[in-house]
Amino acid sequence: MSEDQLRQRLVDPARFNPKTIMPAYARNEGLTRVAPSLQGRTLLGNEQIEDVVAYLATLK
Ligand code: HEM
Repeated sequence: MSEDQLRQRLVDPARFNPKTIMPAYARNEGLTRVAPSLQGRTLLGNEQIEDVVAYLATLK
């Protein structure tokens, strides 16, 4: 996959499979069962998403 394809799957995998169990690392709405103290937060920040994408791109 290209860096952009990887990025899109990390940000919101449900875009490709609405029923996926894979967590959306950059989504903070439309989620269920989020602890009250973590409401509104994303799993990863933009910089962390880019770090994961950069790492995955080295594995080609
Ligand atoms: C940083 C961690 C992760 C990365 C980089 C990642 C990356 C990916 C990518 C690139 C795909 C697409 C594969 C393809 O279309 O051939 C994928 C699919 C998938 N991922 Fe992840 N993933 C991660 C974490 C997880 C976690 C934690 C889960 C489950 C708890 C998960 C569950 C799945 C499943 C079930 C699919 C198959 C397609 C689907 O059902 O949507 N992933 N993942």
